[in-house]
Amino acid sequence: MNRPGPPRLAGGDPASVRCPPPLWRRPSCRCAPAPRAPGVAIESLGLVETAAAGASLVDFFHATPDAGLVEMVHRHGTLAGWQVGSLEDARLAAEVGCDVIVVRGIEGGGRMYGSESLWPLLAEVVPAVDVPVLAAGGIGDARGLAAALAAGAAGVRMGTRFLAAVESGAHPVYRDAVIAAAATDTVLTGEFRSGWPHEQSSSRVLRSSLLAAQGFAGDIVGELRIGPVSVAVPVFGIAMPLRESTGTVEAMAMYAGESVRFVRRSEPAAQIVRDIAEGAEALLRAWC
Ligand SMILES: Cc1cc2nc3c(=O)[nH]c(=O)nc-3n(C[C@H](O)[C@H](O)[C@H](O)COP(=O)(O)O)c2cc1C
Repeated sequence: MNRPGPPRLAGGDPASVRCPPPLWRRPSCRCAPAPRAPGVAIESLGLVETAAAGASLVDFFHATPDAGLVEMVHRHGTLAGWQVGSLEDARLAAEVGCDVIVVRGIEGGGRMYGSESLWPLLAEVVPAVDVPVLAAGGIGDARGLAAALAAGAAGVRMGTRFLAAVESGAHPVYRDAVIAAAATDTVLTGEFRSGWPHEQSSSRVLRSSLLAAQGFAGDIVGELRIGPVSVAVPVFGIAMPLRESTGTVEAMAMYAGESVRFVRRSEPAAQIVRDIAEGAEALLRAWC
């Protein structure tokens, strides 16, 4: 987390750029054959191109690591990452040339891909791959970051910890519920899946939102507004309540990980990052 971000390739013809700049340590650059899009990503190839052209890092999830997609990202001089939920996928992500791998455990908030807890999986993945590994799932304080670094991760990814940040787009009802929740107030459920492309799909949400959806009489819980566009949200739909959502927002999927225990107030994202990074550094110095 406290390492400088990777440099961005500037200028030139993106098509002529075969590989991204090195990230920390990268033994060899393995560029892959023509794109073959798996699962969810097949509808989104244009989106991948757009993201790769404008971002420093494009990160994939909910699909088996794919050489074609990684190559598509690398062609723009952009780094490619894959969030994984198993050792097998981590190995594959390294094999297809990902620059960073995110090991995500079932403690984390949001939609799930995998069924393993973070720490045992992290301990397996770190020695098995030769690319930087980030730990994700249930981490939300300095102790979690320090533990991940001590376990060999290069850093962490946090989602839930930022739900109540000043910059968060979460609906105020969602934000307040997150601030009030304990770790035991989250639940893994397969119920919020309307609109998801796969038949089977689980997610970790606040239990209160699951109970509200189960008790909701009707088909549509409300509307999701993004700019000028309004979309009806079905009961057990995958959309979470954003600031502009309307209706029975408490019955929408309030994604949250066990790290919800660390969210106690609304504060700027930069402050959250600074406190956690400084706290972890102090802990690591005290341990060494
Ligand atoms: C509200 C919310 C939305 C998320 N949306 C995505 C997403 O769109 N794509 C993705 O790959 N991961 C998503 N995640 C999962 C994060 O990438 C990350 O794995 C997770 O937040 C880590 O666990 P934590 O929530 O305990 O910090 C989301 C998580 C949350 C809490």
